[in-house]
Amino acid sequence: MLTKTLIFAQSALIAALAASAAAQAPTTLKDAYKNDFPIGAAINAAQISGSDARGDAILKEQFNSISPENALKWERIHPQPGKYDFTLADQYVALGQEFHLFTVGHCLVWHNQVPGWVFRDDKGNLLGREALLARLREHIQTVVGRYKGKIQSWDVVNEALNDDGTLRPSMWLKIIGPDYIEKAFAYAHEADPAAQLTYNDYNIEFAAKQAGAIALVKKLKAGGIPIAVVGIQAHLQPDSPTAEQEDAAITAFAALGVKVAISELDINILPLPGHGPTADVTLKLAQDPALNPYAKGLPEEAQQKIADRYQALFQVFAKHRADLQRVTFWGISDGDSWLNDWPIAGRTNYPLLFDRNGKTKPAFDTVIRAAAYN
Ligand code: XIL
Repeated sequence: MLTKTLIFAQSALIAALAASAAAQAPTTLKDAYKNDFPIGAAINAAQISGSDARGDAILKEQFNSISPENALKWERIHPQPGKYDFTLADQYVALGQEFHLFTVGHCLVWHNQVPGWVFRDDKGNLLGREALLARLREHIQTVVGRYKGKIQSWDVVNEALNDDGTLRPSMWLKIIGPDYIEKAFAYAHEADPAAQLTYNDYNIEFAAKQAGAIALVKKLKAGGIPIAVVGIQAHLQPDSPTAEQEDAAITAFAALGVKVAISELDINILPLPGHGPTADVTLKLAQDPALNPYAKGLPEEAQQKIADRYQALFQVFAKHRADLQRVTFWGISDGDSWLNDWPIAGRTNYPLLFDRNGKTKPAFDTVIRAAAYN
């Protein structure tokens, strides 16, 4: 009898402990990583303007940082000479203010999503160096100045490097020369001295491009340019770059005395024939149903593969908590992701932690679990 009572008491105690552990276990991303780094999401126009109620509910519950997927890019915010359109950008920043989110600006200088007029005079001739620098300074002063103190971190220069680590032959480089990067950082600093200024790129986990990025950061620092952060975009394939490569890349950049942002995280499970990891937004491949294998759903095995991959990645991120400014997903739910339309329009992809119905996926659970690592 006594033994029976003891066993009963014991199992009641175990049940109570389990229940209280469950009650205490973090159930949101931002809680799970609250002592580590902000967890961000890139948000789209529907989420910024409030017309995606489900997306906004997930954002407010789970995330404590935002990035603008497109709303602050040059073509959106400054579509014509002398004409700015801050409608969506203002709403974006107001959302960040209202919900106390670490608010990222993306991006000031890029070779994509920048209108052609930026590089030409009103007769259509290419601008000279000084004229383009003046235009760049005006843009940066206007945009960064408008959100001074409200955008905490700016991607000042995006994707300036080729995969071999040399400077990409963009219009910025061709017209201004390699110091367009220093100039952009200096203008941004002038406009908001407190903003954390970032160089952002993809594939800087790989040796040659990483060496180029390291050389760039060293050069900026040597010239007294206030670069505070390197953004590793982390648009990942199922097997590459590996978690070990992320680990090594964070270590390498942190050693330069900057923070690292994992700035655009997603995992692309769909085939990208003929291409290694890339985030070149201009890449286009032909429609082919064979390249859209999971249109009707993701097999359990593939679902688990993404979950395991995210677990390994977040174990690395958790370990590097002191080095990381934030970890930002490039979207909230699978249905929002740019990877449904790039580099082939209309595919069905599964890159994020929330499914098309806004429900958490197995990868959400592994990411929460990885927070306990270390
Ligand atoms: C992507 C957006 O997600 C798409 O909506 C848009 O059509 C193209 O740009 N690297 C970046 C991001 O720095 O700005 C890109 O975002 C994805 C790759």
